[in-house]
Amino acid sequence: MSNPLTDKIALVTGAGRGIGRAIGLALGTAGAHVVVAARTQVEIDTVAQEIEQAGGTASAWPVDLSSEAEIAALFNVIRQKFGRLDVLVNNAGIGLFGPLAEFASADLDRLYTINVRGTFLCCQQALKLMMPQASGTIINISSVVGFKGYARQGGYTMTKHALMGLTKTLALEAQPHGIRVSVISPGGVDTSMIGDARPDLDRSGLLQPEDIAQTVLFLLSLSEQAAIDEIYIRRRGSAPF
Ligand SMILES: NC(=O)c1ccc[n+]([C@@H]2O[C@H](COP(=O)([O-])OP(=O)(O)OC[C@H]3O[C@@H](n4cnc5c(N)ncnc54)[C@H](OP(=O)(O)O)[C@@H]3O)[C@@H](O)[C@H]2O)c1
Repeated sequence: MSNPLTDKIALVTGAGRGIGRAIGLALGTAGAHVVVAARTQVEIDTVAQEIEQAGGTASAWPVDLSSEAEIAALFNVIRQKFGRLDVLVNNAGIGLFGPLAEFASADLDRLYTINVRGTFLCCQQALKLMMPQASGTIINISSVVGFKGYARQGGYTMTKHALMGLTKTLALEAQPHGIRVSVISPGGVDTSMIGDARPDLDRSGLLQPEDIAQTVLFLLSLSEQAAIDEIYIRRRGSAPF
């Protein structure tokens, strides 16, 4: 049976480490050509090499999602090199933490710029490629804080709630064009970000980045007639819902 990701072009933002790296590796191993994007060149180069060592193909492209011009340049390269985009995983995100009473508005701006505006701009650019081809899948990586509140995570929580609004509207608007839009909302995942968010947390037993990558592969394995709007994935032992 042929692999459904063979010859597909996938862009993963924030793919230099953590969850994005695992998603990039999973997509590359499953047969897609993966465009690995983030700011740190050495990290994206390493992930692209890891994909190729695993038998896949990848290109590394540096991008700072706070720059509309850099995002446009990234998508122009994809347009010129491949002429299409089948999968966009909006994974890149930052976390800045602290109680709302003391939270600096500049930090809120920074969070919003990357987590919301950057994702929004990538979605807009992806639509320009996916709408003419009448196909494509966009997967946004939100968080459990996209629907719950957590102390000391107010600014980050606000951006992930905004991402849910973006996803819900985009799913509606993109559907008539043959494009599926889903959101994955993970609980704590064992990456450097969780160390900043929850220094108090015992990290043993946390979700691993590969758990999120497997969820992405599951979404991409759906039949043509199926769509999943949202997946909430948490570590076993944490509170359901
Ligand atoms: N870890 C968790 O517990 C958890 C739980 C739920 C959801 N999430 C979400 O999952 C996603 C990945 O998180 P992670 O834990 O894997 O974080 P991470 O290890 O810190 O990785 C974040 C990735 O995003 C990239 N990035 C950050 N700022 C960027 C910018 N301005 N432009 C382009 N790329 C940028 C980083 O690369 P550069 O710094 O090199 O640019 C890096 O590759 C985030 O959206 C996060 O909110 C994480």
